Amino acid sequence: MKTLVIYDSLYANTKAVAQAIGNAIPGDVEVRHVSRVEAANLQAYDLLVVGAPTHGGRPSEAVQAFFDQAPPDAFAGMKVAAFDTRLTAKWVRIFGYAAPRIAGRLEQGGGTLVGPPAGFFVKGRKGPLKPGELERASVWAQGLVR
Ligand SMILES: Cc1cc2nc3c(=O)[nH]c(=O)nc-3n(C[C@H](O)[C@H](O)[C@H](O)COP(=O)(O)O)c2cc1C
Repeated sequence: MKTLVIYDSLYANTKAVAQAIGNAIPGDVEVRHVSRVEAANLQAYDLLVVGAPTHGGRPSEAVQAFFDQAPPDAFAGMKVAAFDTRLTAKWVRIFGYAAPRIAGRLEQGGGTLVGPPAGFFVKGRKGPLKPGELERASVWAQGLVR
């Protein structure tokens, strides 16, 4: 099985989660920053996992641009999953989070979700991740291929 984990990251927290996810998935796995991925060129992959920091309740701009530039059927026939990083503060809930929106874009493009959108918590805007989040990301990733 060939897997591509795509991420964006301003302060390296989402990058760390993406790498933990990549390490937890068996087989041939690549972990790449979204700037190094072309949405029109994904046919080689069986599983696509996309993650972003939550910015104003949405995926970061680079991840939104990735989806905006994707052909209509970019993810057809692929297994897909979405994650984000987000603050623990309760008040940010009203904006929503990136992962459900990423999942929606992946499904719109023909992908089949193989797990629930997941959010991993940072203690502040620049991080760090809350203790245990990398382990939780590994468990979530293992669930995608079970
Ligand atoms: C411009 C900006 C807007 C943000 N908006 C939200 C938000 O709406 N909800 C939230 O949970 N976190 C928000 N955050 C905090 C991010 O979730 C946090 O910076 C991110 O998880 C860190 O990941 P990174 O190190 O990969 O950039 C925001 C951060 C920035 C810089």
